[in-house]
Amino acid sequence: MQKEPLILGIESSCDDTGIAVLLGHRILSNVVANQEVHKKYGGVVPEIASRAHQKNIVPVMSEALAQAGIALDQLDAIAFTKGPGLLGSLLVGLSFAKSLCLSLGLPLVAVDHMQAHILAHFIEDEAAVKPEFPFLCLTISGGHTQLVKVKSPHEMEVLGQTLDDAVGEAYDKIAKMMGLTYPGGPLIDKYAQSGVPRFRFSKPKVGKMEFSFSGLKTGVLYFLRDELKKDSDFITKNLNDLCASLQHQITDILMEKIQNAVAHTGIKRVAIAGGVAANSEIRARLAKVAEEKAWHAYIPPRAYTTDNAAMVAMAGYFKYLKGDFCDLSVNAEPRLRF
Ligand code: KG4
Ligand code: ZN
Repeated sequence: MQKEPLILGIESSCDDTGIAVLLGHRILSNVVANQEVHKKYGGVVPEIASRAHQKNIVPVMSEALAQAGIALDQLDAIAFTKGPGLLGSLLVGLSFAKSLCLSLGLPLVAVDHMQAHILAHFIEDEAAVKPEFPFLCLTISGGHTQLVKVKSPHEMEVLGQTLDDAVGEAYDKIAKMMGLTYPGGPLIDKYAQSGVPRFRFSKPKVGKMEFSFSGLKTGVLYFLRDELKKDSDFITKNLNDLCASLQHQITDILMEKIQNAVAHTGIKRVAIAGGVAANSEIRARLAKVAEEKAWHAYIPPRAYTTDNAAMVAMAGYFKYLKGDFCDLSVNAEPRLRF
């Protein structure tokens, strides 16, 4: 039997510097250096992010190799995130990947970050069942919100996406309005656990498989402005209920779109992916709806939802099997679309 390839994955599209080693579908190591520095600015500052990647990337690689117990010369390929993402951040991972390939004589594999989020479902994990093709995937992150028909690891079709803000972006911006630190998504999730969803905000009127979150953001902004005029402690007094209301409304929207996509395609296998797929209510509601409607729901382990390099190595593995390599003239594509 042929040996499974050892693939090093590099993720540097935004503010997490990640390097992972996979043997086939199995993770040998998955190291992420989070850039806490952005918290004080309330969002990612691109130039600071690139500088932090530059500082972190070698130590993160050394740690990933040490944890995997392998040396560089045992690797079979290097996979990196080509886009979408922040140009300066992508260039750090890309240049590092190129240098490794040049010095080690290895093939270079370019990975689409959004496809990698989806293909994270194929990382071997006791707690998760791998989806069967074709399946639908709702990819929800800080930069994107997409409903995707996944026909194979190589063939994906975007059925609909956001017309403005991504869902994670809405979470983070609304959290900022409420005085929470960046990234606000996990904090809203946390406070929502103790709240009651008693506030309602307007729902966007867009196509059946399209999304829009900027109206919700503005709606919350005006609502808070009016309430704060009446009571300057409104947010503090109602934080849990505000978070629960917001989370409930966002989950309602997402569930409705998934149901529309199932009706449109007839595919009853539904996955979620991306950082916002770590959200407790979205996970719980999808599991419940799937049970009621006899769908298969694929809910990834939380560790593979937010940006990580294991998903990049996983996506790289499928391209490696096909011999889909790129040459060293490859460039980063901040607006890459598949
Ligand atoms: O996929 P990701 O790590 O990075 C991008 O590719 O954008 O997603 C990051 C996003 C952030 O907006 C963050 O607030 C959100 O995922 N997020 C969450 C949760 N955990 C992370 N949003 C809601 N609930 C969570 N538990
Ligand atoms: Zn991401």
